[in-house]
Amino acid sequence: MKALLLSGGTGSRLRPLTYTCPKQLIPVANKPVLYRALEAIGAGGIADVAVVVGEAAPAVMASVGDGSRWGLRVTYLRQDAPRGLAHAVAIAEEFLAADPFVLFLGDTLLKDGIGAAVTRFQATRPDALVVVGRAEDPGRFGVVEVKGGRVHRLEEKPRTPRSDLVLVGVYVFGPRVFDAVRAIRPSARGELEITDAIQQMADWGCTVDAHQVAGWWKDIGTPEDLLDANRLLLEDVETELRGLAEESWIAGPVRLGAGTVVRRSTVRGPAVIGEGCHIEDAHVGPFTSVGDRCTLRRVQIENSIVLEGCVLDRVAFPVVSSVLGRETVIGCGGTPSRGLGLVVGDRSRICPV
Ligand code: DAU
Repeated sequence: MKALLLSGGTGSRLRPLTYTCPKQLIPVANKPVLYRALEAIGAGGIADVAVVVGEAAPAVMASVGDGSRWGLRVTYLRQDAPRGLAHAVAIAEEFLAADPFVLFLGDTLLKDGIGAAVTRFQATRPDALVVVGRAEDPGRFGVVEVKGGRVHRLEEKPRTPRSDLVLVGVYVFGPRVFDAVRAIRPSARGELEITDAIQQMADWGCTVDAHQVAGWWKDIGTPEDLLDANRLLLEDVETELRGLAEESWIAGPVRLGAGTVVRRSTVRGPAVIGEGCHIEDAHVGPFTSVGDRCTLRRVQIENSIVLEGCVLDRVAFPVVSSVLGRETVIGCGGTPSRGLGLVVGDRSRICPV
């Protein structure tokens, strides 16, 4: 079995962060979502992966390389424009040949990975197996209706969802999917929808099974999704103190990277702090991820994602529920005020007066 991992698209709802970094490479709990997908693919027993890339191809290729870091063989397929998930499948037909394959959307996180879905597909050999989960807001997703474990109707982002069971972004397909992709036409939003291709398969009488995820799952579309995913991932963090803490209080599960120094500060986990950081006279609250080489001095921060190389120095307001792009500088001083939630792109400067 092979895997097709999608890392194209525009990431428009995550601007300004995605002006300089494709959304799949934005670190959550200090690791890009795409790396977690590659780990899940490897853990699912798959070694051959095609990664679909769009205009951010150079960044993705430089970051992932040949995949050997994960024990994978990675091939890149260039998609000229985000023409839809089914279009991405179509351009991969030659690579995938007649083998069954996992389609993995590169902005999807699954707590329990894909092993159970792959095993079930191999045991039962349907034409397609879609991984589904329950959603409070099903209208944001592809919605499926299931009878006796079989999918009989699907609808992409319906106004009035008929069920709360949705496509989480992982699918396993046999070769009939290529015929279905050829048979469908672009949707109202101008994309070739994989949801329509699966409906086509069901209409042809193909077996389309639904496999419900056990653990949590999350797709990253917005800054709020990033913060939600960060919280979910940090819940599993275990304490690992490779840095140094002096006159400080480290409570709860906290990971401190090598070369990091914490002085006269409080770090309340769950939290991860990368390598080579300086944390002084600061309060780092729960559900915060701080990338490598950051300086946090006289600042209160919680429930936030701070990417590498940021400097937060004498910040008068608590930084809460924020996502700070790489090498952002916030400081100095200003009048103390209530907490602020910021979403800022790489190399931003915020200097209250
Ligand atoms: O997150 C699950 C949902 O993913 C499903 O419930 C929907 O049925 C499915 O259509 C999809 O919806 P999204 O609107 O979330 O898809 P998005 O445009 O975000 O694309 C998903 C991933 O695929 C993302 O990593 C970007 C990549 N992509 C997207 C398109 C449209 C490509 O590589 N090429 C493309 O042409």
